[in-house]
Amino acid sequence: HPPLRVAVLGCGVVGTEVVRRLVTDGDELAARVGARLELVGIGVRDADVERDPVVDRALLTTDATSLVEKADVVVEVMGGIEPARTLLLHAVAHGAGVVTANKALLAQDGPTLYAAADAAGVDLYYEAAVAGAIPIVRPVREQLAGDTVQRVLGIVNGTTNYVLDTMTTQGLGLDEVVAEAQRLGYAEADPTADVEGYDAAAKAAILASLAFHTRVGLDDVDRTGITGLSADDVAWAARTGHVLKLLAVAERATGQDGTAGVLVRVQPVLVTADHPLASVRGAFNAVFVEAEAAGELMFYGRGAGGAPTSSAVLGDLVQVARHRVLGGKGPVESSYAALPVLPAGDA
Ligand code: NDP
Ligand code: HSE
Repeated sequence: HPPLRVAVLGCGVVGTEVVRRLVTDGDELAARVGARLELVGIGVRDADVERDPVVDRALLTTDATSLVEKADVVVEVMGGIEPARTLLLHAVAHGAGVVTANKALLAQDGPTLYAAADAAGVDLYYEAAVAGAIPIVRPVREQLAGDTVQRVLGIVNGTTNYVLDTMTTQGLGLDEVVAEAQRLGYAEADPTADVEGYDAAAKAAILASLAFHTRVGLDDVDRTGITGLSADDVAWAARTGHVLKLLAVAERATGQDGTAGVLVRVQPVLVTADHPLASVRGAFNAVFVEAEAAGELMFYGRGAGGAPTSSAVLGDLVQVARHRVLGGKGPVESSYAALPVLPAGDA
């Protein structure tokens, strides 16, 4: 099979690690896919800043629009709503399969992207958008599609888990620990998204949409972040045998008028020290899924950081590439059943 042309949009924390895998594991990936994955360009804001030596500077471009036009697969790891949204729609219109880590975009405007990918008959994969390295999107999207999910619950933001954990163990204030999370590559470009719970809410919306076959947007999530928590609150929790965790919960519920629907919320919760979620440390994440036939499932691993996230991105890239070589196509989310999203507190 001729080489598949891969465009990577973004060369930051995640993009650099994606490029590293493509460069260092090229032969192995080619064997797994049945075609070479040829990196044809890397879209960035500034092509002149210093980069990791693994990045071939000749591949850097600030003209992402032209870049996606010559790609078979576009990997979007730039983040933000625009220009990512327009570039992905452009990629799909040109027949490229798409892999994205952009939970903010998917939670805000996923259905537009799903519909465009569906209409164009191309793949749209987004494992890295939820919980970093943990395979959770594909299990919920594909493997559990034959079961009835009752509840999805867990820690889905690495930054806030790292921050709360470090505040507990080192007695530090929120701001200085957030700065460290940024340095470690866990935080979003604007860490407000992490500490105010928007990032966890976006992930909760994505998981809830998949788990309950409905459309949950960012605004449907009842959201509280961790900025209201002080070092004293965290210390008090520890003294009383608890750990503070920012939890995302999405579950079937019955509204006050008897309507069956879905409730989704993100909020700090006091977890008893012997609960499995209490042992989720640093930037790790953990997600429990309760399904009618499967019972309880637990997913655990690194929820943030360049290398762990690149694992999820590469897994998607291999899948899209295999479809190009062998035929076939991933699932679509363009049609939804009518399970309503209940307003906050309506249960
Ligand atoms: P970074 O801020 O480290 O990198 C962003 C990259 O995108 C940079 O290379 C930047 O270019 C480029 N970029 C940004 N805006 C534009 C633009 N308008 N035009 C062209 N290039 C642009 O982000 P991360 O790597 O941390 O995150 C990328 C995506 O992955 C986000 O959607 C994030 O939510 C998601 N994600 C991140 C995880 C993590 O742990 N960091 C984990 C899971 C998902 P330049 O270098 O020139 O500034
Ligand atoms: N900022 C995100 C987090 C990155 O801390 O979880 C992973 O999605």
